[in-house]
Amino acid sequence: MITILNFGGQYCHLIARRVRELNVQSEIVPYDASYAKIRALNPSGIILSGGPASIYDKGAPKCDPKIFMSRFPILGICYGHQLIADFFGGKVGKEETRGYGRQTLHIRQNSHFFEGLQNDEVVWVSHGDKVTRLPQGFVNLGSTDTSEIAAMGDLERNIYGVQFHPEVVHTPSGTRILDNFLNICGAPRDYHIEDLEAKLIEEIKEKVHGEKVVMAVSGGVDSYVVANLLRRAIGSQLYLACVDNGLLRKEDLPHVQDLYNDFPNFTLVDASDRFLTALKGIVNPEQKRKIIRDTFWKVFEEYAKPLGAVFLGQGTLYPDRIESAQPSKSADVIKTHHNIGGNLSLSLVEPLRDLYKDEVRKLGIAMGLQKEYLFRHPFPGPGLAIRIVGGAVTRERLGIVRQADHIFVSELRQEGLYDKVWQALAALGCMRTVGVQGDARTYQYPIFLRAVTGEDAMTMDWARLPAKFIEKVSSRIVNEVEGVNRVFYDVTQKPPGTIEYE
Ligand code: XMP
Repeated sequence: MITILNFGGQYCHLIARRVRELNVQSEIVPYDASYAKIRALNPSGIILSGGPASIYDKGAPKCDPKIFMSRFPILGICYGHQLIADFFGGKVGKEETRGYGRQTLHIRQNSHFFEGLQNDEVVWVSHGDKVTRLPQGFVNLGSTDTSEIAAMGDLERNIYGVQFHPEVVHTPSGTRILDNFLNICGAPRDYHIEDLEAKLIEEIKEKVHGEKVVMAVSGGVDSYVVANLLRRAIGSQLYLACVDNGLLRKEDLPHVQDLYNDFPNFTLVDASDRFLTALKGIVNPEQKRKIIRDTFWKVFEEYAKPLGAVFLGQGTLYPDRIESAQPSKSADVIKTHHNIGGNLSLSLVEPLRDLYKDEVRKLGIAMGLQKEYLFRHPFPGPGLAIRIVGGAVTRERLGIVRQADHIFVSELRQEGLYDKVWQALAALGCMRTVGVQGDARTYQYPIFLRAVTGEDAMTMDWARLPAKFIEKVSSRIVNEVEGVNRVFYDVTQKPPGTIEYE
C-alpha cells in the first residue's frame, strides 16, 4: 500500500488512481496526518502530492517531520518536491521565467527511478516555484529549460522529488516513473479489482446479518453495482426503490425497470406530482436543489419506514468521502445526505467507498453486469430541473428539454460518439428568441447542447463533435421539438464554465 499525503493539489486523486492501476493499493490522507497514523497504515512508501501553496508562504502546509526521518521511500511531486528540498536544507525560489505546461526533461543521471526512460522526456509542469539548490545527500536527476533541478534523489535513502507531474497524461512516461518508484518501494502488486467481489460480499454479509437493507436506485452506475453486490450478498433482505421525481430523462425509467424488475423487492414510487408541485414557481437553482433533496427524503422515508430496515445501501465512492480533494459534485443527491432526516435512522452500507469510478466499472464488468449501463454518462440528482435555465420547472419545459436531450443522446449513440464524450446534455434557456417559420415570426425557446471530454469532471474540454453531426442534431431539434427555434452548441471549457447550466 502507498500512502499519499494530500497537500491540496488538484491531481491528488489522479496519483492514487495511477498507483492502483499499477496494482498497488493507495490511500489518501491529509497532509498533516501524524507519523504514527501513517505508520499504522503500514505503507510500502509515501507520496507527497502537489499543492497550490508556496513553501515560504505563511502557514504553508507541512507534514510531520518524522516522515522524512523514517525508513519509508518517499516521492515528492511538485509542492512535495519543494518540501523535501526545504526540509533537507536545499533552497526553493520563485524565478522570473516560470515554466508551466509541457517541458522537456533532460535526464542527468542513471537511476532506478528513471529506468527505461529516454534521455529527453516530455513532462508536465504546473507550479511557479522550483528547487534552486540541492539538499545534502541528493543528486540532480534531471533538468528542464526553466528548472535546473527538476528531479532529484537521495539514492541511498530512497527519497525522490520531481517538479513535474508524473500522474498526468501529458507526461507520457509518467506511469513508468511511478512504476519505478513502486519497484523501489518493493510494494506488493496485489491490488486487483477483479478479485474484489467475493471480499465485498463477505463484508456485507458480516455487517448486515439478518437485517433489511433499503436503497434508492436511479439507473446510475454506482447504485447499479451496489444493488447487485447487495443482492448477491443478502438476496431478499434487500429492498429497492426508484423514486420517480418527474425530472428524469426519457430513457431513465425504462432503464431502471430493465435493471431491477427481477429483483426480489423492487418498487417504483411515482412522486412526480409532489416534486413538480413543490418546485412550482421556483427559479433559484440552489432552491430547486434543496426542494428536490428534501422532497426526495420525505418520499423515501415514507417508503422505507414501514419496512423496518436497519441499513441504507449507498453508492458512495472514494472521492465522495475524501473531502479535501473533492473532484466533482457528481455524487447523487442521496450521497450528499449521510444522515437521513425525520425519524428514520439507518446505518450505512457503502461497499464502493474505497473505489474510484473507473474501478467501479471494472468491478461491474468482472461481476458480469451489463456494459451498456456501466458506461452511462453521469446525470445529476436534481435531474432536468437544473437544465431549465433561469426559469421555473413546468411540464411544458420538461417535455421540451427531455425530447431535445433524447434526440442529442440517441444521435450520439447512433454515430458511435456516446463513449467518446464524458457527458452530454441538452438544456433549455427560459427566454424567447425570434425565428421565422413559413411566413410567420416565432418567439420560442433556445436549446443549449453541451458535450465535454476529460477525466474527472474537474477540468474539462468541450467535445469537438463533427459539424455535420451538430447540424443534424440541431435540425432535428428545431423540426421535431415543438417550442424550440434555435440551438446553441457550447464551446466553453471548464473552468470557467461548469458542465451543468445551473
Ligand atoms: P458541474 O456542473 O459542477 O458538474 O461542472 C460536475 C458533475 O457533477 C454533476 N452535478 C451534480 N450532481 N447533484 C448531483 O448529483 C447536483 O446538484 C449536481 N450539479 C452538477 C454534473 O452533472 C457533472 O457530472
